[in-house]
Amino acid sequence: MNDALLKISNLTAEFKTDKGVFPAISGVNLTIDKGEILCIVGESGSGKTVASLSLMKLIPAVGKITTGEISFEGRDLLKVSQKEMSLIRGKSIAMIFQDPMMALDPVYTCGSQVIEAVRIHEKISHQGAYDKSVELLKQVGIPHPERCMNAYPHELSGGMCQRISIAMALSCNPKLLIADEPTTALDVTVQAQILELLKKIRKEMNMSIMLITHDLGVVAEMADRVAVMYAGKVMEEGDVRSIFHNPQHPYTQGLIKSIPHMGQKNEKLYSISGTVPSISSMPDGCRFSPRCPDAADICRQKEPEMMQACHNGKARCWKLDQAWREGETG
Ligand SMILES: Nc1ncnc2c1ncn2[C@@H]1O[C@H](COP(=O)(O)OP(=O)(O)OP(=O)(O)O)[C@@H](O)[C@H]1O
Ligand SMILES: [Mg+2]
Repeated sequence: MNDALLKISNLTAEFKTDKGVFPAISGVNLTIDKGEILCIVGESGSGKTVASLSLMKLIPAVGKITTGEISFEGRDLLKVSQKEMSLIRGKSIAMIFQDPMMALDPVYTCGSQVIEAVRIHEKISHQGAYDKSVELLKQVGIPHPERCMNAYPHELSGGMCQRISIAMALSCNPKLLIADEPTTALDVTVQAQILELLKKIRKEMNMSIMLITHDLGVVAEMADRVAVMYAGKVMEEGDVRSIFHNPQHPYTQGLIKSIPHMGQKNEKLYSISGTVPSISSMPDGCRFSPRCPDAADICRQKEPEMMQACHNGKARCWKLDQAWREGETG
C-alpha cells in the first residue's frame, strides 16, 4: 500500500544571479508518508530552504522551477493555479519558520493574528474564532491563553512566539507542516519543548512534518526518515537508524563524525574540510568530491546516480556501485 502524502520527483529550481542562471536544487526526489516526520539535513547552502519553498511554490521571483512533479494527495502542485495553490497553502500545507517574530506582525495582538488565521479558512463568528484561538493556544502549551491573546509579540519570549506561530499553522488542520529550522533561534531548553510539542501534535493530528535542520541532534530526536542534502542534491536517504548507525555516503559520515560528544573535552572536534560550493561554481563529477576523503578519479569525472544502499535507503556515491566494489576487492 502506498501511503505517500507527498511525492516530489526530479525537482529542479534555478536562480538568476549576476553570474548567470544556475540550479539551486536539481533532480530532487523526496517522499513523505502520512504521519511521518522527514528531516532534511545538510550544511548551510545545501538547498534545504529552496526545496521547501519550491514545494509551496513560494520561491523568490529570481527563481523558477524548471522540471519536476510535486504530487500532494495525488495532485501535481506544479499544475494547479496560483489561486488553488494559495488555498492548499494554509489549508493542507502550513509552514513555520526559524524566526517566529518574522511570522508575527508586531502591530497586532497575538490573539487577533490567531483569530485571523482561524477565520481565513472557516466561516465562523468572531466569538467562535476567539474560542477556537484560545483552544489552539492551549493545545500548543501556552499557560495563560486568555492573557496571551491580548499580548503583542514583543511582550512574549521567542519560544512563546514560536508556539503562537505553530498555533496559527495548526488553525487549518494541515496534513503537512513544513518547519524550516523552527528551533535554531531558541535556547536549548525551549528548543526541546518546541520539538516535544511538534511530536505531540504529529501524534494527535496524524500530521506529516517536513523538518529542516542542520542539527543532527534534532534529527536523531525527531526523524522517522532522513534526507541528507548537499549542493542542491539529495545525497543519501534512509530511516533514522540507518543514517546514524550505518551511513553510506562519505558526506553523511562526515556530518555524523562532526557531532560533538560529551566528555570529548580534550579531543579536537572533527569538521569536514572545505565549504559547500556556490550554485555558480559546482564541481565536475560528484559535487562532494573536492571535500571527500574517499574520492577516486571517477568521482571527479562523472556524477553518480542515487543507488540502492545496503541499508533500506539510497545514496548518491560511486562506492555503492557494483563495478567500484569489484575493482576495490579484485
Ligand atoms: N534568491 C536567491 N538567489 C540566488 N541564489 C539563491 C537564492 N536563494 C538561495 N540561493 C542559493 O541556493 C543555494 C541553496 O540555498 P538554501 O537557502 O536553500 O540553503 P539552505 O540549505 O536552506 O541553507 P541554510 O542552512 O543556511 O538555511 C545556496 O547556494 C544559495 O546561495
Ligand atoms: Mg535554509
